[in-house]
Amino acid sequence: MAEDKPRGLAAGLTNYGDPGFAAYLRRSFAQSMGYSRDLLSKPVVGITWTASDFNNCHRGVPRLVEAAKRGVLAAGGLPLDFPVPSLGEVFLNPTSMVFRNLMAMATEEMIRAQPMDAVILVGGCDKTLPALAMGAISAGKPAIMLATGPMMTSLYKGERLGACTDCRRFWAKYRSGEVDKQEIGKIEQTLATTEGTCSVMGTASTMAILCETMGLMLPGTAAIPAVHADRLRAAEETGRAAMQLVSSGLTYDRMLSQASFDNAMKMLLAIGGSTNAVVHVAAMAGRLGLDFSLERLNRFSDETPVLVDLKPTGQGYMEDFFAAGGVGAVLNRLRGKLDLDAMTVTGAPLGDFAAADDAWIADEVIRPVENPVRENGGLVGLFGSLAPGGAVLKRAAADERLFEKTARAVVFDGLADLSARIDDPDLDVTEDDALVLKNAGPIGAGMPEAGYLPIPAKLARRGVKDMLRISDARMSGTAFGTIVLHVSPEAAAGGPLDLVRNGDLVRISVKDRRIDLVVEETELARRRVAKPPRLAAKDRGWLGLFKRHVLQAERGCDLDFLTAEFPHEES
Ligand code: FES
Repeated sequence: MAEDKPRGLAAGLTNYGDPGFAAYLRRSFAQSMGYSRDLLSKPVVGITWTASDFNNCHRGVPRLVEAAKRGVLAAGGLPLDFPVPSLGEVFLNPTSMVFRNLMAMATEEMIRAQPMDAVILVGGCDKTLPALAMGAISAGKPAIMLATGPMMTSLYKGERLGACTDCRRFWAKYRSGEVDKQEIGKIEQTLATTEGTCSVMGTASTMAILCETMGLMLPGTAAIPAVHADRLRAAEETGRAAMQLVSSGLTYDRMLSQASFDNAMKMLLAIGGSTNAVVHVAAMAGRLGLDFSLERLNRFSDETPVLVDLKPTGQGYMEDFFAAGGVGAVLNRLRGKLDLDAMTVTGAPLGDFAAADDAWIADEVIRPVENPVRENGGLVGLFGSLAPGGAVLKRAAADERLFEKTARAVVFDGLADLSARIDDPDLDVTEDDALVLKNAGPIGAGMPEAGYLPIPAKLARRGVKDMLRISDARMSGTAFGTIVLHVSPEAAAGGPLDLVRNGDLVRISVKDRRIDLVVEETELARRRVAKPPRLAAKDRGWLGLFKRHVLQAERGCDLDFLTAEFPHEES
C-alpha cells in the first residue's frame, strides 16, 4: 500500500467541504465508542455482520466475527463489523433469489462508502456467498471470505438425517402415504439440528467449495463444519490474512481470471454441485466480463468425472467431505485438469493447496479419477427451440431412462396454477408426460426454487418417483430428479416456453444437448401475441427495480447496470 495514501479512518472522509474538519469529527465520534486513539490510527478491517434471527444458517456468525476480530487485532489492525442484509433461504418471500442482488449492492456500497482497508465477508446460506462476492468484486477493495460452514447430521431411528435432501425424500414419502403425519412431525425436528448451512452438496456447500477453488477464502476452510473448533481457528486466521491483504492490496477483481472460473466450473462438475451455482458464478463472472456460460460448461462436462459421493447425487454429507480431505483432496484428484497457477487470496497459486500425493484421502467419499461416481460431469447445458438461451439439467441427480424422450406436455401457467391443480385427481397426466411450469423465471416470479415440481399425488401414490419436469425456475441444490431448469428466455420475457400448450410434444436429448418444442412454426407464430408490460402496479420499490433490470439466467440474473459491460454503448 502506498505510504502517502490515507488509510484506516483517515480514508474516504465525509464531504463537508473541509477535510480537516471531517477528519477531526470522525476521530471524535469514533472515540465516543471507547476506542483508544492508538487503535483508531490502525488499518481498518471491516467485517460483514450477517447474523440474523431470520437466518438459522448464520447462527454462528457472532462467534465467527469475534474470532476474526482476534486475528485482526493480533496482526495490528482495527476490526469493525457492519451490517449487510442477511438472506435466510426459507424465511424470505417470494424467494431469496430476488434479494441476492440487493445484498450484493448493499455490500458493495458499504465496503466502498466506509473507511476500511480490507473486508472479511462472512456468509454461508445459499445467496449470501455469491452476493458478498459480487459486491466485493465490484467494490475493488481487498477482501477475504469466511464461510459459516455446514450443519452436522442427526440420527433418527438409527438413520443419519441432514438438511435438505432428506427433507425432500421424507416429504415425498409423506405425500405418497408411506409416512404418516405423526412421523413427519418427528422427522421435521431431526433434519436441521445445529447451526450452519445445509449438510449436503446443496447450493451453500457448492458455493463455499467454488469460492475456495477460486481462491476467495483461505484454503481448507470451505468444508469445516460450523460447530467444529477448526472453524473458529479459520476465522482467527482469516483475520490475520485480511491484514496481509491490507499490505498487499490484492483485490478480487485483480486476482480472479478466466482460469479461476474454469477451475470453479470443473470443480462444480466434479463435486456434483448445485445447478444454482451456474447462475451465481455467472453473475460473479459477469462483474468482470469473464465467461461462465452453459456452452463452456458443456465443453468441460464430458471430460470431468463426478468424484464426490455426497447427497443428493450420492450418499455422504459435508462432514464426511471435510473428514475425507475437503477441497484440497479434490484439487489433488483433478490436478491434471485444472490450471493450478490461478491466484488465491493468500498471494500463492491454487496448486500450493492441493493435497500432496501421499496425503490420506477417504477414497469412498472423494473417489480417485479411475473409480469415479460417474464418468462425466454432474451438470449439462441444453439448447434448442424451447430454450434458445439455454437450460440446465443436473444429470447426476436424474434418471437416465428419461434422457432421450419425447413427451406430452402437461402445462401449468404459473406457481398458483401449479399448486391449485397438481394434486387434482382429474388432472390428465401419466408418468410418461412432461410437467411444464411457466412464469417462474426471474421476471415472472423472481426465479424461485419451484423447478422441483412435485410428482402429482395420484402418480406418487402409485409409486412414481421421477418424471420429466421443465421450467424457467431454479431448483434447490439438495433436490434430485429429471428436471430441466433455467429455461431461457423465460416465459414472462416472451420465450418459447410461453408458447407451450397442453398436449404439445417436447423432446429432450441429453446426448445431443437439446430441448425442443415439437410444434410447427406456423402454429407457434399464431400463438405468439404481444406480451403485456413487464411491470404491474404492485411492482414498486426494489421489486420494480429488479424486474426492470434483471438479466436472464445465462447472465446470472444480475442487474444489467451492475455488469462489466455497463454503461452500454447506447446509454
Ligand atoms: Fe441455509 Fe440451506 S437453508 S444453506
